[in-house]
Amino acid sequence: MIYLDNAATTLQKPPAVRRAVGQAMATMTSPGRGTYGPAARASRTLLACREAAAALFQAGPPENVVLTFNATHGLNIALNSLVKPGDRVVLSGYEHNAVTRPLAAVPDLRVRVVRAPLFRPDRFLEDFARQLDRGAEVAVCTHVSNVYGYVLPVEEVADLCRRRGVPLVVDAAQSAGVLPVTLSGWGAAFVAMPGHKGLYGPQGTGLLLCGGETQPLLYGGTGSQSRQREMPDFLPDRLEAGTHNVPGAAGLLEGLRFLRRRGLGTIQRQETALVAQAAQGLARLPGVQVFSGWQRGCQSGVLSFRLAGRDPGWVADALAQGGIAVRAGLHCAPLAHATGGTGDTGTVRVSFSTFNTPGEVDRFLKRMARLA
Ligand code: ALA
Repeated sequence: MIYLDNAATTLQKPPAVRRAVGQAMATMTSPGRGTYGPAARASRTLLACREAAAALFQAGPPENVVLTFNATHGLNIALNSLVKPGDRVVLSGYEHNAVTRPLAAVPDLRVRVVRAPLFRPDRFLEDFARQLDRGAEVAVCTHVSNVYGYVLPVEEVADLCRRRGVPLVVDAAQSAGVLPVTLSGWGAAFVAMPGHKGLYGPQGTGLLLCGGETQPLLYGGTGSQSRQREMPDFLPDRLEAGTHNVPGAAGLLEGLRFLRRRGLGTIQRQETALVAQAAQGLARLPGVQVFSGWQRGCQSGVLSFRLAGRDPGWVADALAQGGIAVRAGLHCAPLAHATGGTGDTGTVRVSFSTFNTPGEVDRFLKRMARLA
């Protein structure tokens, strides 16, 4: 199979990730609840995972790295910590349901969406500043659109927010492991990311980098301050109730080590080259509409397209019959589709990892040429 659905979950992992998951299952128990071997090993593994993430994402002390089940979980914690009923929230027009659904559950929220055309960071920043200047208690911006691979100017957004004193939540679901992500550099309140995509960890893992005040979402045992009725007031315990996904964290740690060895610059260059190859090839085919911003330098390893007269689901099925895995439809981000003008049918999406090759893109393009 040619696997081009890495924006959902990377399928091919470094072998050390798989090994670490198995070893953790065989040799580790509940962390923070004992000094005997298997419990202590679990505690050390979690700490090593936090340390590796804190170093890669400039998150300060390892306690600022909270282990979550996925990016959605982290975003829910972040929004639960910051947003109150009646608040004014500014959002990019490319947010995923992981942001828009938790916000929809808060009463009386006044949400303003930054509207600017695809792959136009200049226009995006102008509108972001305008919306912030109308007043905001919280801002949320995805780093890379999961639909279009559009790299949003998060550094500049962070600057706009910082100068106005508005806490910023960054969804790094599609950028972590590919582009530089920095909690302290951006001065963000929170940065959320999954472990199972660009960090090459297992499903059921994620990281929330915390730079501000936090409010628990889940309450329960932490192995600390056990007499106290309330959750501990220190991180990471405050946000991590119950026994952790230790095998997941062990795998994620190996994913982070793999990234450090390979280097984000190498991965980014690889993925951008594959996107450029796919976008150029698709643009030559009759009836294919490609959403492409790599020439402007603002697209990562995710690419959407449509084939005239065919539903994206039909195209994905036809590709699957040829052994090529892609995602089709609305990609859980109806807001991004509305912003990009694809809310009617959605798109076909291909997304790359460091394990994809130009030869695989060639085979995908040959198959698409037959379908077109
Ligand atoms: N949010 C993931 C995606 O875009 C699952 O496919």
